[in-house]
Amino acid sequence: MARITVFGMGAMGSRMAITLLKAGHEVTVWNRSKDKTAPLVEAGAKAADTPRAAVKEAEFAICMVRDDNASQHVWLDTQIGALANLPEGAVAIESSTVTVAWARKLAEHCSTKGIAFLDAPVVGSRLQAEASQLIYFVGGDTEIVAKAEPILKTMGGAVHHAGSAGSGAAVKLAVNELFGVQVATMGELLGLMRHCGIDETKVIELVSSTPVCSPAAKAAVSAMQARNFAPMFPVELVEKDFSYVIEVAKEHGAQVPMAEAARRVFAEAISLGYGSDNITGVSQIYL
Ligand SMILES: NC(=O)c1ccc[n+]([C@@H]2O[C@H](COP(=O)([O-])OP(=O)(O)OC[C@H]3O[C@@H](n4cnc5c(N)ncnc54)[C@H](OP(=O)(O)O)[C@@H]3O)[C@@H](O)[C@H]2O)c1
Repeated sequence: MARITVFGMGAMGSRMAITLLKAGHEVTVWNRSKDKTAPLVEAGAKAADTPRAAVKEAEFAICMVRDDNASQHVWLDTQIGALANLPEGAVAIESSTVTVAWARKLAEHCSTKGIAFLDAPVVGSRLQAEASQLIYFVGGDTEIVAKAEPILKTMGGAVHHAGSAGSGAAVKLAVNELFGVQVATMGELLGLMRHCGIDETKVIELVSSTPVCSPAAKAAVSAMQARNFAPMFPVELVEKDFSYVIEVAKEHGAQVPMAEAARRVFAEAISLGYGSDNITGVSQIYL
């Protein structure tokens, strides 16, 4: 059993920490808002006051926070950042959905300090985290991936080595672009069919029956019809991820007009007050 620190007790990080505890690991947690660590302490974790204190004895430190800024705060803050205190031989794992540039920069910071680093973002949401069925895309050195794999496999059904540091972040953003574009399109076409006066149930049945409709799009359109917008992967995080796709593209001189269009759609949903709804809540724009 390993000594593992988890930063970020949000929807995903708290579930991942519980899974690690249930598997018998010694887990220390930290969260910016301290009250969110209470249920984890009740479940057997130790809570630390700062990321720096949280990693004092860690063999693995896993970060699952909102974005690049939050990740920077956790690892590198001059007062409380974890990196300054990670023991020799520990592995720093960034599981938040971050930009490729940030994952690579963090890898460099770790390398300067002689700390092993992986970017290991996940596909799958709250239910998959509860069921240990997350899919990991991992960037980093092969031997470090092998070392961390048993820990990641506790939380995930699959661990894929994507390449060098930053590759996990890149593949994760690609998957989220594909997912988000499909969901936004499903919302749009439901609205279009309604305006044409075509029976919604029939449209969903027929579109879903075709080979062009992916399982993800099918599930999304069913949730839209049922008006199930209970947060799993909230609109505001989807918009954040599209903004990261655009940022990565700008940095590397790539064109991403689909991502730009989808980002505008999710930003509109946020401006209409649907930011905390699930990704499927984007369909409310078209009601
Ligand atoms: N939800 C999903 O379905 C899903 C799926 C795959 C990947 N992801 C990615 O996983 C990450 C976490 O997602 P989530 O759903 O768990 O989000 P969440 O429930 O909104 O939790 C966000 C976490 O980040 C922390 N945080 C935010 N800003 C911070 C800052 N400046 N400094 C330190 N901590 C900060 C929050 O702390 P406080 O409690 O103090 O606010 C909280 O612990 C994100 O990168 C997201 O894109 C999410």
